[in-house]
Amino acid sequence: MRHLLTPLDLSVEELETLMDNAEKIKADPERYAHVCDGKIIATLFYEPSTRTRLSFEAAMLRLGGKTMGFATADSSSAAKGESVADTIRIISCFADIAAMRHPKEGSATVAAKHARIPVINAGDGGHQHPTQTLTDMMTIRALKGHFDGMTIGLCGDLKFGRTVHSLIRALLRYRDVRFMLISPDELKLPDYMIDEIKKSGAEFEELTKLEDAMPNLDILYMTRVQRERFFNEEDYVRLKDYYILDMPKMELARDDMIVLHPLPRVNEIAVEVDEDPRAKYFEQVQYGMYIRMALICMLLDIRI
Ligand code: CP
Repeated sequence: MRHLLTPLDLSVEELETLMDNAEKIKADPERYAHVCDGKIIATLFYEPSTRTRLSFEAAMLRLGGKTMGFATADSSSAAKGESVADTIRIISCFADIAAMRHPKEGSATVAAKHARIPVINAGDGGHQHPTQTLTDMMTIRALKGHFDGMTIGLCGDLKFGRTVHSLIRALLRYRDVRFMLISPDELKLPDYMIDEIKKSGAEFEELTKLEDAMPNLDILYMTRVQRERFFNEEDYVRLKDYYILDMPKMELARDDMIVLHPLPRVNEIAVEVDEDPRAKYFEQVQYGMYIRMALICMLLDIRI
């Protein structure tokens, strides 16, 4: 039995196979419409979500399976004090696979230890969000064709942004990837992630002005300032609009640059940018469903 807790739980070869399978499903969804007949996914969301929870549910429904779960901690027995370990023991009696989001770092790992079914980390605090990374990787591969040699600008809340941490980890396994880390001082990438980049030998630069990075980028990965992880509202209000990607900034970028964002967007991308052909963040969401379909099949050992 396998779990997906961090992007590194998949080898590069497995990741490539997963993306190939997701492409196959995308090209001919009817062919896979019953491969999960009789299977149930439990979506255990202790934190709000639109894309991740619903794309897991859409993925299982489109594979012929069924879904169950909760969308808030308040509507589960967590509100009465039940632990994650006990909850996943119970869910293992009902479902074949679980996707779990939790505000505490390491919660998915705890769940996996006590589960009798595969557990997918759908985001644990400010730590990791591996299925967003699968979504991002599939989008990059589909739109750019490869990962080697890419210059990627990661902009915004690099401290709390778990999607950034997971994506860096996944990209470090490719050759000559260069990171431009664009953030205010208070929201810089944590030291442990900087150490991982240094250890890999990948090139990186930390900067505060988005305009300085724009002309160099193959990919711009914008992120939201993570209000829910701040200790006080005053700091959030001060930092929330630090970066706003607008058309004057887009004019500094190359014609073949692409803009990604894990979403939800708050203010960090002006809506006028949505019309620019380089804005790919809504397309990115669609890839997320197909890669989750492929992942469910892989973890349930269903050959496709
Ligand atoms: N990208 C992402 O995790 O979105 P949700 O919080 O809506 O699931």
